[in-house]
Amino acid sequence: MGTIHTGVVTMPLTVRDMTEADLPELACFYSRFYLEKMPAELERARTGVVDHLVVCTPAGVPVGKGAINWDEIPGAGVISTLSVRVELRSVGIGTVLIRAAEERIRARGLSRAEIGAEENNPRARALYERLGYVAYGCEPASWDQEDSDGTVRKYETTCTLLRKDL
Ligand SMILES: CC(C)(COP(=O)(O)OP(=O)(O)OC[C@H]1O[C@@H](n2cnc3c(N)ncnc32)[C@H](O)[C@@H]1OP(=O)(O)O)[C@@H](O)C(=O)NCCC(=O)NCCS
Repeated sequence: MGTIHTGVVTMPLTVRDMTEADLPELACFYSRFYLEKMPAELERARTGVVDHLVVCTPAGVPVGKGAINWDEIPGAGVISTLSVRVELRSVGIGTVLIRAAEERIRARGLSRAEIGAEENNPRARALYERLGYVAYGCEPASWDQEDSDGTVRKYETTCTLLRKDL
């Protein structure tokens, strides 16, 4: 059996606003159905009601994405739809993204960040709690989702609501 060598790379990441050019790369970790909505979402971003953020490697390749909704809860920025490229999960990229989102919320003069975690996603909730978010309630949530046969149906779930004072 061959020897296994190991190494550690520290990589500077940047977080910036998503552009149209990022969309092909995001197909690795978002559904086609979600990405189809992105051109309209970029229009909404231009009006200032949402920020779509991507976290990128030094070569500019997006490896994670999330959004901040500004018009959902008065006085708070609502962080949503976080996703990190599958092969790069659990190395800290999501944390970098959440911290960048929090900085943006603070920069807007707001002092609260909100985030939701599906009840069947305890690992996401654990991450948010590690970052200082505190659960304060839950609410039903639903969104359209595409089945493997291409049928679009409404997916219904319950989300734990968490918040953090910044
Ligand atoms: C949740 C997510 C964005 C976090 O990004 P990340 O880069 O993996 O986060 P970090 O490396 O900073 O922190 C890792 C922690 O995220 C949490 N996590 C949640 N879902 C995870 C997943 N599918 N894979 C790995 N970690 C996940 C865990 O608490 C993990 O800690 P652990 O490895 O000790 O269990 C990412 O894991 C992901 O894209 N998951 C699938 C989509 C999702 O669940 N989105 C959240 C919707 S509320």
